Amino acid sequence: MLNPTEIHDVNVRYHDLAADHYDSKWGIDFGELGRAQVVAKAGKALGRPPGRYGRSLEIGAGTGYFTLNLLAAGVIERATCTDISPGMLSVLAENARRAGHAVETEPAEAESLPFPDASFELVFGHAVLHHIPDLPRAFSEFERVLAPGGTLLFAGEPSRQGDRLARVPKRLASAVAPLWRRAIGARPAPPSQEDEPDAALERVVDVHAFAPDELEDLARGAHLQQVRVTGEELLANWFGWANRTLEASAEPSDVPWIWRQYAHRGYLLLQELDRRAFEPRLPAAVFYNLMITARKAEK
Ligand SMILES: C[S@@+](CC[C@H](N)C(=O)[O-])C[C@H]1O[C@@H](n2cnc3c(N)ncnc32)[C@H](O)[C@@H]1O
Repeated sequence: MLNPTEIHDVNVRYHDLAADHYDSKWGIDFGELGRAQVVAKAGKALGRPPGRYGRSLEIGAGTGYFTLNLLAAGVIERATCTDISPGMLSVLAENARRAGHAVETEPAEAESLPFPDASFELVFGHAVLHHIPDLPRAFSEFERVLAPGGTLLFAGEPSRQGDRLARVPKRLASAVAPLWRRAIGARPAPPSQEDEPDAALERVVDVHAFAPDELEDLARGAHLQQVRVTGEELLANWFGWANRTLEASAEPSDVPWIWRQYAHRGYLLLQELDRRAFEPRLPAAVFYNLMITARKAEK
């Protein structure tokens, strides 16, 4: 078990190493698709279309997936992006320059934010809470830097139960991988691929998975109000993990283009099915990702 300083250091190393290939690895898009995804996520989390926010702060902004797409969609006006990884922030600055957006970047640890009280109307993040060792401290910082009446929004957080359910398609895919490779005529992945320098660190940087009420308690513990936790991605996620497991077992250049198209389009279709059929009906805990929104009281 690592202590918080060690977790911090590993997070910086892992994300610095990941920065250059992060967008291509995760299919991060800064065009129409990315904008639609991010606005849809914010809308689902809030339970209504996102409004407009003047000053925004992103925690663990990575390469800018949320901030740059929210700027492009006109949801936020003046954006500050923080992250503990200087490598991520330099890729973000380059992505912002290419997209023509002005963004302030500031290396910062979520548990101690270098901003005065009440600085932002929106404090948000995507896929970052599960990396932060002291979450009560981080939530108290989020509350401190929010302006009265401001909104907190975090999405893309792993759900403990959703993660357990997603292991089933991963195991099934591992079991059928040799048959699948034979069917598509692919050679097994070279051993070095499963041993990428960042693969070992990945296991260390994910320090939490959540039950919905744990996220709610964090927001309430920081005196935030109107707390709302929802879940997203069920079938899309199972499909995505199964395909990634199959693909990781094969020599990348042997995986045919048509298969990659099928995997990508199938994922988008199932995302739509999840959104319409399952997300409004099933409990948040069964989904792979959790989202939380809350508000700071008006003065
Ligand atoms: C999984 S990545 C997500 C990046 C981006 N939000 C996205 O959705 O593409 C997590 C990010 O959180 C950052 N991070 C990890 N621990 C952090 C901490 N304690 N404080 C601030 N940022 C942190 C990492 O450096 C990394 O850029």
